[in-house]
Amino acid sequence: MSDLIEILRNPIKWHSASSDPDIKLFLEDLQANILKGHGRHHAAHVFIGFDDLSHDAVAHVVRALGRRCTSAAEQLRSNKRYAPYLDGGTVRCVFLSAGGFEALGAHAEVPPGAAFAAGMAARQAILSDPGRATWEAGTWNARAPDAMLLIANADPRIVTGEAKAFAQWLEASGCRILATETGLQQTRKFRPDAAAEGVEHFGYVDGRSHPLFLDEDLRTELAGLPEEPPAPGGFSTGRIPWSPAFPPSQFIVADPNGRLPLSAGSYFVFRKLEQDVRGFNAAEDALGEALFGKAATQEELDRAGAMVVGRFEDGTPLTDFPQGTAAAVPNGFTYENDADGARCPFHAHIRKTNPRGDVRRQLNLPDDQGDRSPIMARRGITYGPARPMSQDGSEFADGGNEPVHGSGLLFMAYMADLEQQFEFTQQSWANNPDFAGNIGENKHGSTGIDPVIGQADPAAPTREHTYLDGHTPGAQPSMHRFEQFVHMKGGEYFFAPSLSFLRGV
Ligand code: HEM
Repeated sequence: MSDLIEILRNPIKWHSASSDPDIKLFLEDLQANILKGHGRHHAAHVFIGFDDLSHDAVAHVVRALGRRCTSAAEQLRSNKRYAPYLDGGTVRCVFLSAGGFEALGAHAEVPPGAAFAAGMAARQAILSDPGRATWEAGTWNARAPDAMLLIANADPRIVTGEAKAFAQWLEASGCRILATETGLQQTRKFRPDAAAEGVEHFGYVDGRSHPLFLDEDLRTELAGLPEEPPAPGGFSTGRIPWSPAFPPSQFIVADPNGRLPLSAGSYFVFRKLEQDVRGFNAAEDALGEALFGKAATQEELDRAGAMVVGRFEDGTPLTDFPQGTAAAVPNGFTYENDADGARCPFHAHIRKTNPRGDVRRQLNLPDDQGDRSPIMARRGITYGPARPMSQDGSEFADGGNEPVHGSGLLFMAYMADLEQQFEFTQQSWANNPDFAGNIGENKHGSTGIDPVIGQADPAAPTREHTYLDGHTPGAQPSMHRFEQFVHMKGGEYFFAPSLSFLRGV
C-alpha cells in the first residue's frame, strides 16, 4: 500500500483510480475543490457559529454536513461526464476554523499551526490588516466563524435555494448564521472566437496562473509543447521556462483527525476583499497620463494598467509585450530577460506574488525553491452585482458609474502551511516595500508595496513606485503614487478536513 507521502509527491493521476485502490481511497476521502477549482459561476459561502452547542451537538451538525459534501473523486467524475460544459451539478464543501475544532471537544484535535490556532483577526499585525472592529459591520466585525459551508452550482437558483434550506436547518439545530457571502463570477469576452473568461472586478482575467498538481491538468496545459523524457521520479517540467507543475504536498496535508490511512485535508484562507473599481480605473488613467502625456493612446493607458497588475486585461504578461500573442495567453514565462524590472516593474501584483526566479537571481540561490514554495492554490470568486456589459460582452458598460462599495473578490486559497504560504506572500512579498529588486540588479531604488493588495501605513511612502517604460527606447524612470483600492472586510483561516472525519466524527 502506498503511503500519503508517496501519493503527494507527484501530480495525481486520477484516471488510474480504477486500477489503483490507494488513489481511489485517497480521492474518495478528500474534499472537492482542492485538487481543481469547482468552476461553477455561482456559489454561496455560509459562515456558521456553533454558539453554545454541546460538543456532541456540534459533532451531530458536522456529521450531517459531511454527509452532503462532495469528494474529489465525485468532482472529477462529474467534470468528465458533463464536459465540455461547466455544470457537473452541485459541489459542497465544509471547512472548520480552530474555534470549530475546539467546539468539538474530545471528538477532534485542532490541526497544528500557530496562525491556524490564533485565527486571522489575531494575525492583524503580521498581515497589516485593519482591526476586526472595522471589518464589515453586522457580519465580520462581530466574531470569528466556527465553520464555513460552500455550495456551488452553475444555476444561481439552486445555490440560493440550498443555502436557505441549510441555514434553516442549521438554525433549527442551534447554530447561528453569521454571514452568507454570495459569489457570482464576473466574466468578459476578450476574443469573438473564444468563450468568455473569468475576470476580477478591475476587469483583468483572473485565475490564469495556477499551480497544477493533477496529472490531467498538466497534460492540458503542456499539450502541443515538445515532448521531453519524464524527469526521474517526477513529472517532466523543463519544457517551458516557468513550470506550473507543483507537488501536491504543497497544498495537501495528512488530516490529523482522518479515519483512514490516506485521509488528507488542506488549510484554507478566506478573505472578503472589497474593490473600489471607480477609484482604481481613475488612478490607472491618471498614471497613464502621467507616464505617456495627456494625449496618451488607449494602448498606452492599457500599458499603465499592466504596470500595476503585471498582465494586460486579457492576461497577456507585460514582460512579454509586445511579443505577447493575441490568441493563447501564456503562463510559462519568467522574468529572466527582465532582471532590472524595465519590462514589468518589480512592484506589479503578479511579480510580487509569484516572482518566477527573482528570488533565486537576486539572492544567488542554486534553485527556485524560494520563489516556488509560497505559491498557493487560489480558488477565489468575485462578489457583488454583475456589471453591465457592452453587447458583445467585451467591455464594461458602466463607465463613470463603476462600483465603489459592495463588489470585490472572495479570495480563497488552499495550502499546506498558512505561515509559509499565505502569510509569507502577504507580509514578506506584497506588503514589503523592499521586495524585490532593490538589491542586485535593480537600479531604481525601493520597489514599494504591491499596488493591488499591499497594505501598509498610509503615511509611509510605500505606495510610491518607480515606473520605467522599458518598451520605449530612451524612456527614463519616474516615481508615481498609486492609492489603495482593495479593502479587507473580513476573513478567517480554516481547515478542509477529510470526509471520513466529517462523516464519522
Ligand atoms: C494573480 C488580481 C488578491 C495572489 C492575479 C491576477 C490578477 C489578480 C488580475 C492575474 C491573473 C492570474 O495570473 O491568475 C487580484 C485582485 C485581488 C487579488 C484584484 C484583490 C481584490 C490576491 C491576494 C493574493 C493574490 C490576496 C495573495 C496574498 C496572486 C497570485 C497570482 C495572482 C499568487 C498569480 C501570479 C502568477 O502566478 O503569475 N491576481 N488579486 N492575489 N494573485 Fe491576485
